[in-house]
Amino acid sequence: MNTAKKRIWAIAGGKGGVGKSFLSTNLSIDLAQKGNEVALIDGDFGGANLHTFFGVNQTRVSISDFIKSSQLSLDDILMPTGVPNLRLASGAHDVIGMANPKQMQQAKLIKAIYGLRVDYVVIDLGAGIAPHTLDLFLMSNSGILVSAPEPTSVENTYRFIKSAFYRKLKNVMVHSGVRAFLEQITESKHEDNPRTPAELIAKISGINAQAGETLKYEIAAFKPKLVLNQVRTPSDVRVGFSMKQACLKYFGINLDYVGFVEFDNLALQSIRARQPVILHSPEAVVSHSIRRVGHNVRQNYHLVPTT
Ligand SMILES: Nc1ncnc2c1ncn2[C@@H]1O[C@H](COP(=O)(O)OP(=O)(O)O)[C@@H](O)[C@H]1O
Ligand SMILES: [Mg+2]
Repeated sequence: MNTAKKRIWAIAGGKGGVGKSFLSTNLSIDLAQKGNEVALIDGDFGGANLHTFFGVNQTRVSISDFIKSSQLSLDDILMPTGVPNLRLASGAHDVIGMANPKQMQQAKLIKAIYGLRVDYVVIDLGAGIAPHTLDLFLMSNSGILVSAPEPTSVENTYRFIKSAFYRKLKNVMVHSGVRAFLEQITESKHEDNPRTPAELIAKISGINAQAGETLKYEIAAFKPKLVLNQVRTPSDVRVGFSMKQACLKYFGINLDYVGFVEFDNLALQSIRARQPVILHSPEAVVSHSIRRVGHNVRQNYHLVPTT
């Protein structure tokens, strides 16, 4: 194991029920089956449920114990899942208020994730755009957005991308005038607000030229990945390409469309059988699709339209 090469994948999505936990679980198993040491972190502090996907009971110790304790390390709370090479840090479930961890608690978790001695860390994030969710997304090497092809889910995905991007900018922009400007445009819907990345770059360069250069770099470097889940038709699959185009046009952000997973009742059946689909039905179409997504994330591949 070479921890210097450790990769962190964060699985996010604007909306609940799109399949973030489903994909986190199955992608982690795929990585573990390929011989990688994997830590799966249940980062959905409001609705931690990853243990159910594995058919294991809620573990004795969870992320909330780690956060509260000065003795426990994150490694101490990683529990076996029954899948060789894959351990799970169960989500916070017993602490009121843990749904929105404080800045310091969150910093402790982030530092511990960076320190884990494994090949891959996969973080299953909660729905929505809470600050700790955005920060866990931004700390990853691969931020993977899960969306269903429905318009509501697509909208929420755009909202997530925009929020994550602005949070990133606020983190990297040190010039006080630029920070004040960013505060102002994220909190108001003024008609003078920049509408395209080019306008944003022009405005920020006007305040501070150096900040304008940083912004150009950050826009190019921010490349979230997109997985469409629960697709039912070829036109659902194409939604991924239109989302990619829209992101580029309206935010100047490159979205890498890394794959799609079909809607399949096996996903539900496997949860009832308390066994992840990739173990339950390894040769099913969905299991192949999940492995293809994993492959594309690892290889930095993305889909291109066939026509
Ligand atoms: N590709 C799929 N086909 C059928 N059902 C799915 C699929 N992906 C997820 N589901 C089902 O949708 C429900 C919500 O999935 P989950 O992963 O818990 O969502 P999230 O973590 O985004 O809230 C689960 O019951 C799951 O089995
Ligand atoms: Mg979930």
